[in-house]
Amino acid sequence: MFDANALLRTHLQKLVPYSSARDDYKGNEGVFLDANENPLGSITEEDWNRYPDPYQKELKTRIAQIKGVRSENIFLGNGSDEPIDLLFRAFCEPGKDNVIINPPTYGMYKVSADINNVEAREVLLTANYDLDVEAIKSAVDENTKIIFICSPNNPTGNDVSLDKIEEVLRFFKGIVLVDEAYVDFTSRQSFALRLEEFPNLLVLQTFSKAWGLAALRLGMAFASEEILAILNKIKAPYNLSGLVQKTVLKALENLEKKDRMVDQILKNRESLGEALKQIPMIKTIFPTDSNFFLVKLENASEVYKKLIEQKIILRDRSKVALCEGGIRITVGTEKENELLIEALKNLN
Ligand SMILES: Cc1ncc(COP(=O)(O)O)c(C=O)c1O
Repeated sequence: MFDANALLRTHLQKLVPYSSARDDYKGNEGVFLDANENPLGSITEEDWNRYPDPYQKELKTRIAQIKGVRSENIFLGNGSDEPIDLLFRAFCEPGKDNVIINPPTYGMYKVSADINNVEAREVLLTANYDLDVEAIKSAVDENTKIIFICSPNNPTGNDVSLDKIEEVLRFFKGIVLVDEAYVDFTSRQSFALRLEEFPNLLVLQTFSKAWGLAALRLGMAFASEEILAILNKIKAPYNLSGLVQKTVLKALENLEKKDRMVDQILKNRESLGEALKQIPMIKTIFPTDSNFFLVKLENASEVYKKLIEQKIILRDRSKVALCEGGIRITVGTEKENELLIEALKNLN
């Protein structure tokens, strides 16, 4: 039986979390003289003088409806980076515990491990960018607390095999994080719908990609109530501003716009993929389930620099293991993609 509290760092088992008088009184009406706020209002036109809901209940209720999960299974953070960092702080003893990452993958897992002085054991993906489950099994020891799986994976673009993710979820006794930042661009179902089946699963999603809200900083973690109770205990009390909560709640009235944008991006992905095939210096275009392509070409760094001179900015991944000679290209607007293709043709 998976028990998140048994994984928790010892000193946190006794932690008394921050509490406020609003934990004792839940109403919106009243004479609020408990939090040393300014009773007169704000210096802005709209009033922001009261602290926001620390657990973002209204927003979670709406996200729960959209995602088809219970709001008790949702944690909201300042980008996905916040829950990633909180997981290290909750479960990994610095200098002792370790986590497994599967490069080439999203860079923040390793950076967050380094910040927290936790060893990140690197188990490379296979040559076709899938999970190497046997190698993961060999790398795990009794101090391994978290396995990070990114699917669709950044920077390779592909979904890893679902049965391999399931295999990791079944054999591993710690937490398996499945990062689905790009899930809106793939055709498979989200692992967030399978929390009952896998008590050790935590799924990450974000409003930064398909929803077009990167500047607001809003990430979602879906997991058991037991895991989320731990994250809630150690997070900063008011981790999401009132402005973010209000803005996103309003934006979520407009679901069709997000669907329309995803449809457009998928269309643009298709035509960009076709156009890239016509560029002789591009040797490989990897299959993608996300809103970007990984391509390999000769002289990747040189091409990258030449494009920057023309104010076309791609992501140079040519020095990353298994991505040698690789550049990551985000799918842009039709116009942006045309400019890129034109520039690449001229470089040819
Ligand atoms: C796989 C993956 N996860 C998470 C993030 C970051 O998301 P957020 O903006 O919510 O911090 C990114 C950003 O590029 C990403 O590629």
